[in-house]
Amino acid sequence: MIPINDLSRGFRLYQQEYEAKALEVLRSGWYVLGKEVSSFEEEFAAALGEGCYCAGVDNGLDAILVGLMAAGIQPEDEIIVQANGYIATMLGIMQCGAVPVFVEPDEYYQLDAANIEAAITEKTKAVLVTHLYGLATRMDPILEICQRRGLLLFEDCAQSHFAPWQGVYTGLLGDASFFSFYPTKNLGGFGDGGGVVSRKKEIIDRVKVIRNYGSDYRYHNIEIGYNDRLDELQAGLLRVKLKHMPALLANRDHIAQRYLREINNPLVELPKTPAGCKHTWYQFTVRVANQAGFREFLKERGVGTDIAWKTPPYLQPCMVEKFGYRRGDFPKTEAICDTIVSLPMMDFMEEEEISKVIQEVNCYAGL
Ligand SMILES: Cc1ncc(COP(=O)(O)O)c(C=O)c1O
Repeated sequence: MIPINDLSRGFRLYQQEYEAKALEVLRSGWYVLGKEVSSFEEEFAAALGEGCYCAGVDNGLDAILVGLMAAGIQPEDEIIVQANGYIATMLGIMQCGAVPVFVEPDEYYQLDAANIEAAITEKTKAVLVTHLYGLATRMDPILEICQRRGLLLFEDCAQSHFAPWQGVYTGLLGDASFFSFYPTKNLGGFGDGGGVVSRKKEIIDRVKVIRNYGSDYRYHNIEIGYNDRLDELQAGLLRVKLKHMPALLANRDHIAQRYLREINNPLVELPKTPAGCKHTWYQFTVRVANQAGFREFLKERGVGTDIAWKTPPYLQPCMVEKFGYRRGDFPKTEAICDTIVSLPMMDFMEEEEISKVIQEVNCYAGL
């Protein structure tokens, strides 16, 4: 079976370096918020671009929660998001008391700027884009609207490490951005991890306070904070992986380019990349009319697939209970969720494995 992902392959690529770093941290006697965390924060910010800062936190969801709090989001504020976004983004928004307001995505699965203005009310404080599947959102019109209407702009970059929009990496396009370093992410660790990035140092300084019991110095608490700290082991291992990101992204691009060139089944719609973007292939997502049939066909032939995700966030039971959404509220989103299928994509695949995926996808004849 060719798995949809196999995290041990990424580990094996740089096994010696990971093991050496893990031992170094274990032997250091310092395990939470230390020099590995501060070095990772500096190195990640520098790799994203000039003039930005990073604060490491314990996971991507908390990056959203703490990042929004640090940027001044208040209870009852409305934040515009895409209806096909991930539930964790909505949880982060709601855990800080704010309300997600959904709009339909564009043909690239990203937030469609054309739908923003109609969703703005007097309570709207921000737009939060999630750059899904490893592709940047088309930001020009969104930046223009946010500037004109006085809205904050946030980016959920959990799936878009080093995905550029017109030469600038996602994470540097708005007021603050939120990263996950969950193991499956393109820059994923070996446990949970997350980060907030901003060009505004005051936001990052505040995240550093909130993540540590609201404390600005030891035993002195100026905010009702949390324990959202990143540990040294994860930060150290992420530093190792960060160095290899160009090679890891090139591996993914090689797999994707072969899929794009060689999959030629008219029943299978391939992903598109708009001008100004370079896809980083967190997911390679195709669309097929018979989602379940296609998946079953590939499973029988030894090719793993996934759906990211079958149920959009507003139709999750907790959201239906809270806001009363119904199927049919966002037809474009539902059409996406009913037809998307992710093909195997990971840090490394053998050429024969890529060929096998292509061959089986091309053999699919419907039904
Ligand atoms: C778009 C998006 N936002 C947020 C998250 C949450 O990140 P974490 O799992 O690190 O909490 C994820 C992770 O799955 C994600 O894909």
